[in-house]
Amino acid sequence: MSTIAVYPGSFDPITNGHVDIVRRSLKVFGRVIVAVLSNPNKDSSWFTPDERVAMIRETFRAEGERVVADAFSGLLVDYAAAKGANVIVRGLRAVADFEYEFQMTMMNRHLKPQVETVFMMTGESHFYTSSRLVKEVVSLGGNVAGLLPDNVVPRLIERARRFSPGA
Ligand code: PNS
Repeated sequence: MSTIAVYPGSFDPITNGHVDIVRRSLKVFGRVIVAVLSNPNKDSSWFTPDERVAMIRETFRAEGERVVADAFSGLLVDYAAAKGANVIVRGLRAVADFEYEFQMTMMNRHLKPQVETVFMMTGESHFYTSSRLVKEVVSLGGNVAGLLPDNVVPRLIERARRFSPGA
């Protein structure tokens, strides 16, 4: 159980689908680094990388050192190697995720063959959850309780008011 896995993503914000993948990963790996992509060129994000990392830390406070939240920039495989991780974890929902995940996995394998990508199938109650959709729903005044960790819901509602004052 000493294997370190990196679970990368945008996490804008973390959803209960992501939480599900981290919890499944903890059954297999000793430590999971939830790595938030810090991409200054992508300004459509609702939360800064630091805000996203803070929400993830709060969400997994009870897990102690087994779950680490961090921000990264540059190539994922370089970040993983720097952290001593030779496993990348990604979550899969529906078939629609496959093409994108397949491309990324093959590119990462080309860049660093010693890093393996492992897919976790998300719990069925999270098949339809995505950060993009919860942002859309909350912008339109819909109820997102149960789709996100409890600590994240009020922040998303506050942020929706800022981005879409009609919400
Ligand atoms: O949650 P997302 O947006 O699907 O996550 C995408 C992510 C962060 C995993 C991907 O964009 C990524 O790894 N970016 C880092 C840059 C990189 O390594 N690119 C080449 C590999 S495809």
